[in-house]
Amino acid sequence: MVIEVRGSYLYVGNVRASDLAESFGTPLFVYDGDTVASNYSKLARSFTYRDVEILYSCKANSNPGVLSILRDLGAGVDASSPQEVLLSIMLGFPKEKIMFTGNGVTDEEMKYVRGELGVLVNVDSISQLRRYGRLFPDTETSIRVNPGFGYGYHEFTTTGGLTKFGIGLDSLDRALEIAREYRLKVVGLHSHIGSGIFAVEPYTRVTKLLLNLAKNLPDVEFVDIGGGMGIPQKPGDGEFNHVEFGQVISELVEEYSKSFSSIKLRIEPGRFIVGNAGVLLTRVVEVKEVSQSGARRIFVIVDSSVNHLIRSVLMDVYYEAVAVSKASSPREVEVDIVGNLCMAGDVLAKARKMPRLEEGDVLAFMNAGAYTYSMSLNYNMKPRPAEVIVYKGRVRLTRRRESFTDLIATLEF
Ligand SMILES: Cc1ncc(COP(=O)(O)O)c(C=O)c1O
Repeated sequence: MVIEVRGSYLYVGNVRASDLAESFGTPLFVYDGDTVASNYSKLARSFTYRDVEILYSCKANSNPGVLSILRDLGAGVDASSPQEVLLSIMLGFPKEKIMFTGNGVTDEEMKYVRGELGVLVNVDSISQLRRYGRLFPDTETSIRVNPGFGYGYHEFTTTGGLTKFGIGLDSLDRALEIAREYRLKVVGLHSHIGSGIFAVEPYTRVTKLLLNLAKNLPDVEFVDIGGGMGIPQKPGDGEFNHVEFGQVISELVEEYSKSFSSIKLRIEPGRFIVGNAGVLLTRVVEVKEVSQSGARRIFVIVDSSVNHLIRSVLMDVYYEAVAVSKASSPREVEVDIVGNLCMAGDVLAKARKMPRLEEGDVLAFMNAGAYTYSMSLNYNMKPRPAEVIVYKGRVRLTRRRESFTDLIATLEF
Protein backbone atom coordinates (compact mmCIF):
# COMPACT_ATOMS: atom_id res chain seq x y z
CA MET A 1 0.00 0.00 0.00
CA VAL A 2 1.08 3.53 -0.60
CA ILE A 3 0.02 7.13 -0.14
CA GLU A 4 -1.63 8.06 -3.43
CA VAL A 5 -4.48 9.83 -5.17
CA ARG A 6 -7.28 7.61 -6.50
CA GLY A 7 -10.09 9.46 -8.23
CA SER A 8 -10.77 12.62 -6.26
CA TYR A 9 -9.39 11.32 -3.01
CA LEU A 10 -6.06 10.94 -1.28
CA TYR A 11 -5.59 7.50 0.28
CA VAL A 12 -3.16 6.29 2.89
CA GLY A 13 -3.05 2.56 2.30
CA ASN A 14 -6.69 1.68 1.72
CA VAL A 15 -8.08 4.43 3.87
CA ARG A 16 -9.30 7.80 2.70
CA ALA A 17 -7.34 10.61 4.33
CA SER A 18 -10.62 12.49 4.79
CA ASP A 19 -11.99 9.60 6.90
CA LEU A 20 -8.88 9.67 9.09
CA ALA A 21 -9.29 13.42 9.62
CA GLU A 22 -12.92 12.82 10.56
CA SER A 23 -12.17 10.00 13.00
CA PHE A 24 -9.08 11.39 14.72
CA GLY A 25 -9.42 15.14 14.24
CA THR A 26 -6.89 17.58 12.84
CA PRO A 27 -4.06 18.47 12.78
CA LEU A 28 -3.02 14.85 12.45
CA PHE A 29 0.13 13.06 11.36
CA VAL A 30 -0.58 9.87 9.42
CA TYR A 31 2.11 7.34 8.58
CA ASP A 32 1.87 4.54 6.06
CA GLY A 33 3.62 1.60 7.70
CA ASP A 34 3.79 -0.32 4.42
CA THR A 35 5.81 2.50 2.86
CA VAL A 36 8.14 2.51 5.87
CA ALA A 37 8.65 -1.23 5.46
CA SER A 38 9.18 -1.07 1.72
CA ASN A 39 11.67 1.81 1.99
CA TYR A 40 13.67 -0.20 4.52
CA SER A 41 13.53 -3.38 2.45
CA LYS A 42 14.51 -1.78 -0.84
CA LEU A 43 17.54 -0.18 0.78
CA ALA A 44 18.51 -3.45 2.47
CA ARG A 45 18.09 -5.37 -0.80
CA SER A 46 20.32 -2.98 -2.72
CA PHE A 47 23.42 -4.35 -0.94
CA THR A 48 25.08 -7.42 -2.34
CA TYR A 49 27.52 -7.40 0.59
CA ARG A 50 26.34 -9.82 3.28
CA ASP A 51 27.24 -8.07 6.50
CA VAL A 52 25.19 -4.86 6.44
CA GLU A 53 23.23 -3.38 9.32
CA ILE A 54 20.76 -0.55 8.90
CA LEU A 55 20.50 1.60 12.01
CA TYR A 56 17.37 3.68 11.59
CA SER A 57 18.07 7.27 12.62
CA CYS A 58 15.14 7.73 14.95
CA LYS A 59 15.62 11.48 15.34
CA ALA A 60 13.74 11.65 12.03
CA ASN A 61 10.62 10.11 13.57
CA SER A 62 10.50 8.28 16.87
CA ASN A 63 6.89 7.19 16.70
CA PRO A 64 6.62 3.74 18.34
CA GLY A 65 4.51 2.42 15.45
CA VAL A 66 7.26 3.28 12.98
CA LEU A 67 10.00 1.94 15.26
CA SER A 68 8.18 -1.37 15.85
CA ILE A 69 7.86 -2.05 12.14
CA LEU A 70 11.58 -1.44 11.66
CA ARG A 71 12.48 -3.56 14.69
CA ASP A 72 10.50 -6.47 13.22
CA LEU A 73 12.37 -6.09 9.94
CA GLY A 74 15.71 -6.38 11.75
CA ALA A 75 16.79 -2.74 11.89
CA GLY A 76 18.93 -1.23 14.63
CA VAL A 77 18.80 2.36 15.86
CA ASP A 78 21.00 5.42 15.55
CA ALA A 79 20.10 7.30 18.73
CA SER A 80 21.12 10.90 19.35
CA SER A 81 20.11 11.12 23.01
CA PRO A 82 19.80 8.85 26.05
CA GLN A 83 16.04 9.25 25.68
CA GLU A 84 16.10 7.80 22.16
CA VAL A 85 18.29 4.95 23.43
CA LEU A 86 15.87 4.20 26.25
CA LEU A 87 12.81 4.28 23.98
CA SER A 88 14.53 1.89 21.56
CA ILE A 89 15.30 -0.53 24.38
CA MET A 90 11.74 -0.28 25.69
CA LEU A 91 10.52 -1.20 22.22
CA GLY A 92 12.70 -4.29 22.18
CA PHE A 93 15.59 -3.36 19.89
CA PRO A 94 18.63 -5.49 20.77
CA LYS A 95 21.22 -3.36 22.60
CA GLU A 96 23.99 -4.43 20.26
CA LYS A 97 22.05 -2.89 17.38
CA ILE A 98 21.75 0.52 19.04
CA MET A 99 24.47 3.15 18.92
CA PHE A 100 24.46 6.48 20.72
CA THR A 101 25.92 9.32 18.65
CA GLY A 102 25.47 12.60 20.49
CA ASN A 103 26.96 16.05 20.45
CA GLY A 104 27.97 17.95 23.59
CA VAL A 105 27.52 14.72 25.51
CA THR A 106 27.85 15.00 29.31
CA ASP A 107 29.42 12.49 31.69
CA GLU A 108 25.97 11.85 33.16
CA GLU A 109 24.61 10.91 29.75
CA MET A 110 27.50 8.51 29.13
CA LYS A 111 27.12 6.96 32.59
CA TYR A 112 23.49 6.32 31.81
CA VAL A 113 23.83 5.05 28.24
CA ARG A 114 26.97 2.95 28.70
CA GLY A 115 26.88 2.22 32.43
CA GLU A 116 23.19 1.58 32.97
CA LEU A 117 21.82 0.75 29.55
CA GLY A 118 24.94 -1.00 28.19
CA VAL A 119 24.82 0.67 24.77
CA LEU A 120 27.82 1.53 22.59
CA VAL A 121 28.86 5.19 22.64
CA ASN A 122 30.15 6.70 19.40
CA VAL A 123 32.37 9.54 20.62
CA ASP A 124 32.16 12.92 18.94
CA SER A 125 35.21 14.75 20.30
CA ILE A 126 38.61 14.44 21.97
CA SER A 127 37.08 15.74 25.20
CA GLN A 128 34.31 13.15 25.12
CA LEU A 129 36.78 10.35 24.37
CA ARG A 130 38.98 11.31 27.33
CA ARG A 131 35.99 11.54 29.65
CA TYR A 132 34.65 8.25 28.32
CA GLY A 133 38.04 6.61 28.88
CA ARG A 134 38.16 7.82 32.50
CA LEU A 135 34.63 6.58 33.15
CA PHE A 136 34.83 3.28 31.27
CA PRO A 137 38.44 2.11 30.78
CA ASP A 138 38.92 -1.32 29.14
CA THR A 139 35.63 -1.09 27.22
CA GLU A 140 34.58 -0.72 23.61
CA THR A 141 33.86 2.49 21.80
CA SER A 142 33.39 3.89 18.33
CA ILE A 143 34.78 7.14 16.92
CA ARG A 144 32.89 9.67 14.82
CA VAL A 145 35.33 10.87 12.19
CA ASN A 146 34.86 14.22 10.48
CA PRO A 147 36.44 13.63 7.08
CA GLY A 148 36.85 17.36 6.37
CA PHE A 149 34.09 17.58 3.79
CA GLY A 150 30.33 17.65 4.00
CA TYR A 151 27.22 17.67 1.84
CA GLY A 152 23.59 18.56 2.41
CA TYR A 153 20.55 20.37 1.08
CA HIS A 154 21.14 23.24 3.48
CA GLU A 155 24.01 24.54 5.55
CA PHE A 156 22.05 23.44 8.65
CA THR A 157 22.19 19.82 7.46
CA THR A 158 25.84 19.77 6.43
CA THR A 159 27.72 18.06 9.25
CA GLY A 160 31.11 17.25 7.70
CA GLY A 161 33.81 19.92 7.23
CA LEU A 162 34.38 22.88 9.54
CA THR A 163 31.49 22.03 11.86
CA LYS A 164 31.05 21.05 15.50
CA PHE A 165 30.78 17.35 14.62
CA GLY A 166 33.24 14.52 15.02
CA ILE A 167 36.98 14.20 15.36
CA GLY A 168 38.92 15.69 12.45
CA LEU A 169 41.53 13.70 10.58
CA ASP A 170 44.32 15.86 12.03
CA SER A 171 43.24 14.88 15.57
CA LEU A 172 42.86 11.16 14.98
CA ASP A 173 46.36 10.23 16.18
CA ARG A 174 45.66 12.09 19.41
CA ALA A 175 42.36 10.24 19.73
CA LEU A 176 44.04 6.87 19.27
CA GLU A 177 46.66 7.77 21.89
CA ILE A 178 43.86 8.50 24.36
CA ALA A 179 42.16 5.24 23.42
CA ARG A 180 45.42 3.37 24.14
CA GLU A 181 45.91 5.22 27.43
CA TYR A 182 42.54 3.92 28.67
CA ARG A 183 42.86 0.53 26.91
CA LEU A 184 39.75 1.27 24.87
CA LYS A 185 38.87 -1.07 22.03
CA VAL A 186 37.90 1.07 19.03
CA VAL A 187 35.36 -1.27 17.44
CA GLY A 188 33.77 1.23 15.08
CA LEU A 189 34.61 4.11 12.76
CA HIS A 190 31.71 6.36 11.90
CA SER A 191 31.04 9.35 9.70
CA HIS A 192 27.84 11.25 8.92
CA ILE A 193 28.62 14.12 6.58
CA GLY A 194 25.18 15.63 6.08
CA SER A 195 21.57 15.19 5.02
CA GLY A 196 19.76 15.49 1.73
CA ILE A 197 22.49 13.92 -0.38
CA PHE A 198 21.51 12.68 -3.85
CA ALA A 199 24.88 11.64 -5.27
CA VAL A 200 26.57 8.33 -4.47
CA GLU A 201 30.08 9.75 -4.75
CA PRO A 202 30.22 11.37 -1.27
CA TYR A 203 29.45 7.94 0.21
CA THR A 204 32.18 6.22 -1.79
CA ARG A 205 34.63 8.87 -0.57
CA VAL A 206 33.60 8.34 3.04
CA THR A 207 33.64 4.54 2.74
CA LYS A 208 37.12 4.52 1.23
CA LEU A 209 38.38 6.89 3.88
CA LEU A 210 36.99 4.89 6.81
CA LEU A 211 38.17 1.56 5.37
CA ASN A 212 41.60 3.04 4.86
CA LEU A 213 41.71 4.07 8.51
CA ALA A 214 40.41 0.67 9.60
CA LYS A 215 43.41 -1.07 8.00
CA ASN A 216 45.61 0.09 10.85
CA LEU A 217 43.10 -0.52 13.63
CA PRO A 218 42.78 -4.25 14.26
CA ASP A 219 39.87 -3.93 16.72
CA VAL A 220 37.56 -2.23 14.24
CA GLU A 221 34.53 -4.43 13.60
CA PHE A 222 32.38 -1.99 11.61
CA VAL A 223 32.48 1.13 9.52
CA ASP A 224 29.35 3.29 9.66
CA ILE A 225 28.93 5.70 6.76
CA GLY A 226 25.95 7.56 8.27
CA GLY A 227 22.65 8.55 6.74
CA GLY A 228 21.62 11.54 4.68
CA MET A 229 20.16 9.87 1.58
CA GLY A 230 17.84 12.44 0.00
CA ILE A 231 14.21 12.08 -1.09
CA PRO A 232 12.23 14.13 -3.63
CA GLN A 233 10.20 16.80 -1.83
CA LYS A 234 8.56 18.54 -4.75
CA PRO A 235 7.39 17.47 -8.20
CA GLY A 236 10.38 17.21 -10.53
CA ASP A 237 12.98 16.55 -7.80
CA GLY A 238 15.47 13.78 -8.52
CA GLU A 239 15.79 10.58 -6.49
CA PHE A 240 18.65 9.01 -4.60
CA ASN A 241 19.87 6.02 -6.59
CA HIS A 242 19.79 3.47 -3.79
CA VAL A 243 20.51 0.59 -6.17
CA GLU A 244 23.77 2.11 -7.40
CA PHE A 245 24.60 3.14 -3.83
CA GLY A 246 24.16 -0.41 -2.51
CA GLN A 247 26.15 -1.88 -5.35
CA VAL A 248 29.09 0.53 -5.26
CA ILE A 249 29.46 0.52 -1.48
CA SER A 250 29.10 -3.29 -1.40
CA GLU A 251 31.97 -3.65 -3.85
CA LEU A 252 34.25 -1.45 -1.73
CA VAL A 253 33.55 -3.31 1.49
CA GLU A 254 33.69 -6.71 -0.22
CA GLU A 255 37.12 -5.92 -1.60
CA TYR A 256 38.33 -4.76 1.81
CA SER A 257 37.01 -7.90 3.48
CA LYS A 258 38.81 -10.11 0.99
CA SER A 259 42.11 -8.23 1.19
CA PHE A 260 42.22 -7.40 4.92
CA SER A 261 39.65 -8.73 7.36
CA SER A 262 35.92 -9.18 7.49
CA ILE A 263 34.11 -6.03 8.50
CA LYS A 264 30.51 -4.99 9.05
CA LEU A 265 29.01 -2.08 7.14
CA ARG A 266 26.51 0.15 8.89
CA ILE A 267 24.34 2.92 7.47
CA GLU A 268 22.01 5.28 9.35
CA PRO A 269 19.17 6.50 7.15
CA GLY A 270 16.35 8.52 8.66
CA ARG A 271 14.58 10.57 6.01
CA PHE A 272 14.92 7.89 3.32
CA ILE A 273 12.93 5.44 5.49
CA VAL A 274 10.13 7.70 6.74
CA GLY A 275 10.09 10.92 4.70
CA ASN A 276 7.59 9.88 2.03
CA ALA A 277 5.70 7.65 4.47
CA GLY A 278 3.99 10.49 6.32
CA VAL A 279 1.45 13.22 5.71
CA LEU A 280 0.21 16.03 7.90
CA LEU A 281 -3.55 16.48 7.68
CA THR A 282 -4.93 19.89 8.50
CA ARG A 283 -8.32 21.52 8.09
CA VAL A 284 -9.04 24.85 6.45
CA VAL A 285 -10.40 27.22 9.09
CA GLU A 286 -10.78 30.34 6.96
CA VAL A 287 -10.27 31.50 3.41
CA LYS A 288 -9.37 35.17 3.71
CA GLU A 289 -9.14 37.47 0.69
CA VAL A 290 -7.09 40.56 1.38
CA SER A 291 -6.69 43.65 -0.83
CA GLN A 292 -4.16 46.37 -0.09
CA SER A 293 -3.15 49.21 -2.44
CA GLY A 294 -4.38 47.38 -5.50
CA ALA A 295 -2.69 44.07 -4.65
CA ARG A 296 -4.77 41.03 -3.76
CA ARG A 297 -3.86 37.86 -1.89
CA ILE A 298 -5.84 34.84 -0.77
CA PHE A 299 -4.81 33.35 2.56
CA VAL A 300 -5.97 29.84 3.36
CA ILE A 301 -5.67 29.63 7.14
CA VAL A 302 -5.42 26.09 8.48
CA ASP A 303 -5.53 24.53 11.95
CA SER A 304 -1.86 23.54 11.79
CA SER A 305 1.22 25.76 11.59
CA VAL A 306 4.98 25.86 11.26
CA ASN A 307 4.95 24.38 14.77
CA HIS A 308 4.44 21.08 12.90
CA LEU A 309 6.45 21.74 9.74
CA ILE A 310 9.25 23.82 11.17
CA ARG A 311 11.68 22.97 8.37
CA SER A 312 9.54 24.91 5.91
CA VAL A 313 10.73 28.14 7.51
CA LEU A 314 13.99 26.97 9.03
CA MET A 315 15.46 25.41 5.92
CA ASP A 316 13.05 26.34 3.17
CA VAL A 317 11.75 22.78 2.77
CA TYR A 318 8.91 22.45 0.26
CA TYR A 319 5.88 20.37 1.26
CA GLU A 320 3.43 19.59 -1.52
CA ALA A 321 -0.17 20.37 -0.50
CA VAL A 322 -3.09 18.20 -1.64
CA ALA A 323 -6.78 18.86 -0.97
CA VAL A 324 -7.67 15.34 0.17
CA SER A 325 -11.20 15.25 -1.31
CA LYS A 326 -10.53 17.47 -4.31
CA ALA A 327 -7.28 15.81 -5.27
CA SER A 328 -8.03 15.74 -8.99
CA SER A 329 -9.69 19.15 -9.22
CA PRO A 330 -7.92 21.74 -11.33
CA ARG A 331 -5.41 23.86 -9.47
CA GLU A 332 -6.75 27.21 -10.60
CA VAL A 333 -6.40 29.52 -7.63
CA GLU A 334 -3.14 30.92 -6.30
CA VAL A 335 -3.12 31.02 -2.51
CA ASP A 336 -0.82 31.28 0.47
CA ILE A 337 -1.46 28.45 2.91
CA VAL A 338 -0.75 29.80 6.35
CA GLY A 339 -0.95 28.49 9.90
CA ASN A 340 -2.86 29.62 12.96
CA LEU A 341 0.02 31.12 14.96
CA CYS A 342 0.40 34.75 15.91
CA MET A 343 3.44 35.10 13.68
CA ALA A 344 3.59 36.60 10.18
CA GLY A 345 6.22 34.04 9.20
CA ASP A 346 3.80 31.18 9.81
CA VAL A 347 3.65 30.30 6.12
CA LEU A 348 3.35 26.66 5.03
CA ALA A 349 3.06 27.18 1.28
CA LYS A 350 3.53 30.41 -0.60
CA ALA A 351 1.88 31.32 -3.93
CA ARG A 352 0.65 27.78 -4.56
CA LYS A 353 -1.90 26.85 -7.17
CA MET A 354 -4.68 24.94 -5.41
CA PRO A 355 -8.22 23.85 -6.22
CA ARG A 356 -10.92 26.26 -5.05
CA LEU A 357 -10.83 25.72 -1.27
CA GLU A 358 -13.55 26.22 1.31
CA GLU A 359 -13.72 26.25 5.08
CA GLY A 360 -13.74 22.68 6.34
CA ASP A 361 -11.69 21.22 3.48
CA VAL A 362 -8.86 18.97 4.61
CA LEU A 363 -5.38 19.43 3.17
CA ALA A 364 -2.50 16.98 3.29
CA PHE A 365 1.09 18.14 3.38
CA MET A 366 3.01 15.38 1.64
CA ASN A 367 6.44 13.87 2.38
CA ALA A 368 6.04 14.95 5.97
CA GLY A 369 7.19 11.79 7.72
CA ALA A 370 10.68 12.96 8.70
CA TYR A 371 11.77 15.78 10.99
CA THR A 372 8.25 17.05 11.48
CA TYR A 373 6.62 15.72 14.65
CA SER A 374 10.10 15.06 16.07
CA MET A 375 10.91 18.78 15.64
CA SER A 376 7.48 20.10 16.54
CA LEU A 377 6.89 22.99 18.90
CA ASN A 378 4.25 24.26 21.32
CA TYR A 379 4.50 27.94 20.38
CA ASN A 380 1.34 29.86 21.35
CA MET A 381 0.73 27.01 23.81
CA LYS A 382 -0.71 24.90 21.03
CA PRO A 383 -0.92 21.19 21.79
CA ARG A 384 0.89 18.93 19.35
CA PRO A 385 -1.07 16.74 16.92
CA ALA A 386 -1.99 13.09 17.31
CA GLU A 387 -0.21 10.43 15.24
CA VAL A 388 -1.86 7.52 13.46
CA ILE A 389 -0.29 4.64 11.59
CA VAL A 390 -1.90 2.62 8.81
CA TYR A 391 -0.19 -0.75 8.42
CA LYS A 392 -1.30 -3.97 6.77
CA GLY A 393 -4.85 -2.66 6.48
CA ARG A 394 -5.09 -1.63 10.15
CA VAL A 395 -5.40 1.89 11.50
CA ARG A 396 -3.88 2.58 14.91
CA LEU A 397 -3.52 5.69 17.04
CA THR A 398 0.13 5.63 18.15
CA ARG A 399 0.27 8.96 19.92
CA ARG A 400 -2.69 10.78 21.33
CA ARG A 401 -3.17 14.48 20.80
CA GLU A 402 -1.51 16.59 23.50
CA SER A 403 -3.86 18.10 26.04
CA PHE A 404 -3.72 21.26 28.12
CA THR A 405 -2.82 19.03 31.07
CA ASP A 406 0.22 17.74 29.17
CA LEU A 407 1.26 21.30 28.42
CA ILE A 408 1.21 22.41 32.05
CA ALA A 409 2.52 19.14 33.52
CA THR A 410 5.93 20.63 34.36
CA LEU A 411 4.68 23.94 35.73
CA GLU A 412 4.82 24.79 39.43
CA PHE A 413 1.89 26.89 40.59
C1 LIG B 1 24.67 10.96 13.09
C2 LIG B 1 23.51 10.96 12.18
N1 LIG B 1 23.20 9.82 11.52
C3 LIG B 1 22.14 9.77 10.69
C4 LIG B 1 21.32 10.87 10.47
C5 LIG B 1 20.14 10.70 9.55
O1 LIG B 1 20.11 11.60 8.52
P1 LIG B 1 18.97 11.47 7.40
O2 LIG B 1 17.67 11.54 8.07
O3 LIG B 1 19.21 12.61 6.49
O4 LIG B 1 19.18 10.15 6.73
C6 LIG B 1 21.61 12.07 11.13
C7 LIG B 1 20.77 13.26 10.92
O5 LIG B 1 20.96 14.31 11.44
C8 LIG B 1 22.72 12.11 12.01
O6 LIG B 1 23.03 13.23 12.67
